[in-house]
Amino acid sequence: MGHMDPVELSDERLLLRLPTEADVDEITLACQDPELQRWIPVPVPYGRHHGAQWVRDTPRSWAEDLELRWVIVESRPDGTSSGPLGAIGLHARDATMREIGFWAAPWARGQGVMTAAARLVCHWGFTELGLGRIEWWANVGNDASRRVSEKLGFQFEGTCRHRILHRSERVDGWVAGLLPGDLR
Ligand SMILES: CC(C)(COP(=O)(O)OP(=O)(O)OC[C@H]1O[C@@H](n2cnc3c(N)ncnc32)[C@H](O)[C@@H]1OP(=O)(O)O)[C@@H](O)C(=O)NCCC(=O)NCCS
Repeated sequence: MGHMDPVELSDERLLLRLPTEADVDEITLACQDPELQRWIPVPVPYGRHHGAQWVRDTPRSWAEDLELRWVIVESRPDGTSSGPLGAIGLHARDATMREIGFWAAPWARGQGVMTAAARLVCHWGFTELGLGRIEWWANVGNDASRRVSEKLGFQFEGTCRHRILHRSERVDGWVAGLLPGDLR
């Protein structure tokens, strides 16, 4: 851990880049979604200033090597790209382990966006950061997130009672782990 310079990641369809002020309205709209609020501890109600703060904090989050995070956009054939379809990040846990976290905007779900984005991030984490393990945690019952983790090769490791603090309430947590040889 230490200082990190931001990087962009891409495949033939998606670009992962740092969020900008121009993304704030769409991030704020996505974070109104009750399903997102159910599983992610974003502020509720979620105001535009929360989206703006998240965007503003991102360069520092990289510089201080806290959460390395991106917005996910779709590249178009004409060279332009969509607005944000979601966000993804790797939280620092120890020198060679990080925890992945993500959300997709409701209008972008069910099209393989998060599976592809998380694959890029995990691959980069192993090859460029030299990680030895990536963890996935979710509130018990978050089947869509668990399915994404499974498709990437995360091995489900169990349920930890009252492991997660979700808006002041202790809830049971699911955990899975991905080692370098597991990623698919
Ligand atoms: C989890 C989330 C990021 C997935 O994003 P996505 O871009 O739709 O993911 P993908 O399209 O790559 O894959 C979703 C998979 O979950 C499955 N799925 C979706 N809803 C599901 C549900 N309610 N139960 C079980 N599986 C579900 C899809 O069928 C798909 O699997 P498949 O390819 O085998 O059909 C998105 O649902 C989301 O933002 N949820 C709210 C926020 C959240 O929970 N974040 C994670 C916190 S740990």
